[in-house]
Amino acid sequence: TIHDCKLVELPQMYDQRGSLTPISNQQQIPFDIVRTYYLYDVPGGESRGGHAHKELQQLIVAVMGAFDVVVDDGQETKTLRLDRAYYGLYVPKMIWRELINFSSGANCLVLASLPYDENEYIRNYNDYLRMKVQ
Ligand code: TYD
Repeated sequence: TIHDCKLVELPQMYDQRGSLTPISNQQQIPFDIVRTYYLYDVPGGESRGGHAHKELQQLIVAVMGAFDVVVDDGQETKTLRLDRAYYGLYVPKMIWRELINFSSGANCLVLASLPYDENEYIRNYNDYLRMKVQ
């Protein structure tokens, strides 16, 4: 459920030279990272996502700028604002998500538990709801 979508406070190694945030498999996240990707050059106000994954788990981090993540388990939704590089949103499998209200210049880092596989996506919301009731 969306209650399993958790904001994770990541370590922030801060000194006069700046900040560093490490993320390790099975430590800040309950999975092994198999793939990473990042969204950038997203026009201000634009949206991304709009799908669920059958098995994939992710950690989503606003490493620069800000955006909102709307998570939906088919029954309830909640919206979390990501605007700090030392917070990540953990999203388990079978959660519908949309990333909205990107600030211009935002960078969204995604750590993923599986290789890219289009067959693993659920891109139609009605299909998603049908799969949830099964
Ligand atoms: P898309 O799923 O629409 O992005 P988002 O969910 O962030 O809005 O993906 C955009 C394009 O990038 C689409 O053609 C699939 C491709 N893609 C890859 O080739 N590899 C990947 O790991 C990801 C996430 C997407």
